[in-house]
Amino acid sequence: MNSNMVQRLAHYLSATETRSGEAIGNELGCSRAAVWKHIEVLRSLGIEIHAVAGQGYRLKEPLELLDRDTILANLDSPGSRKLNTLVIEGSLDSTNSALQRLPLAEQNATAILAEHQSQGRGRRGRQWYSPYGKNLYLSLGWMFEKSLSELGCLPLVVALATSQALRRAGLEGHGVKWPNDLLIGGKKLCGCLAEVQGDSQGPCHAVLGVGINVHMPVSSQTKQIDQPWTDLHSHLPGFSRNALAALLLEELVGQLSMFDRQGFAPFREHWEQLDILHGKPVEVQSVSDSIRGTACGIDEHGALMLDTGQEVLKLHSGEVSLHKTKL
Ligand code: BTN
Repeated sequence: MNSNMVQRLAHYLSATETRSGEAIGNELGCSRAAVWKHIEVLRSLGIEIHAVAGQGYRLKEPLELLDRDTILANLDSPGSRKLNTLVIEGSLDSTNSALQRLPLAEQNATAILAEHQSQGRGRRGRQWYSPYGKNLYLSLGWMFEKSLSELGCLPLVVALATSQALRRAGLEGHGVKWPNDLLIGGKKLCGCLAEVQGDSQGPCHAVLGVGINVHMPVSSQTKQIDQPWTDLHSHLPGFSRNALAALLLEELVGQLSMFDRQGFAPFREHWEQLDILHGKPVEVQSVSDSIRGTACGIDEHGALMLDTGQEVLKLHSGEVSLHKTKL
């Protein structure tokens, strides 16, 4: 796929007026047959395009594409000062992978956003469905003068920064589910993927990926997502992706800087205010087994505390699901 061509086509069509095949061909510098192929690629990425007989092509719905200048203009100055580089891409395999391909020295404080991911990654080897131009897929690189063991709480810090960005956007009523999901009404709105490499004594490099469902199109693929999900526009119709990207960058940069200076302590209380699992019967699935108990908050390192009835376990990884019955 010619990602640049598809990106230019999406920009040209995004005004929602009907564009003739000839006008599109002139704009992109390609033949009518090539225009048709690029239209089909955009459709396969999840964009609905009407073909109007005798007139041309029109988007079914307006598209707000990501725009670097708009995002930078929306960033407050401390936020933008700490960000080294902001890259906006059309289609990528995964923003986390793209960032990890950069030399380590260029990853720090670099953010990559993409309109589409062909191999968006979720936790535990899951796929993150990433249709074109609809949601937010963002990765930020960050270097920590901390040891690997001090960074176990990083997914929680990223989830809290994302929650704060959504709160500033005006979203109320969402909560966090250990270790890094944001849910509203029991449905997933956002996921975070923290991938860390480095020395056990530090420093460590992290690539922090955030996916927020902004305006998820309902399609055969979304029907296959294996957990209940929601999107921001179901709660805040029309909220701008560019404005949300700026809020998210500001919060990530601000909260990671706070974590650098003060560690996890200031985040623990904030987590507990938003923790949807607290006091609930849960099952925690690890690679080898599953344990049931009552979730009772997190410890000072961000580990999940699970009361099994016999003891309180501190769990550092696992997949949590709510259970209907108490032990
Ligand atoms: C999860 O809840 O399983 C985590 C999902 C993380 C998805 C984001 S989208 C941007 C970044 N790039 C990826 O490939 N994954 C993360």
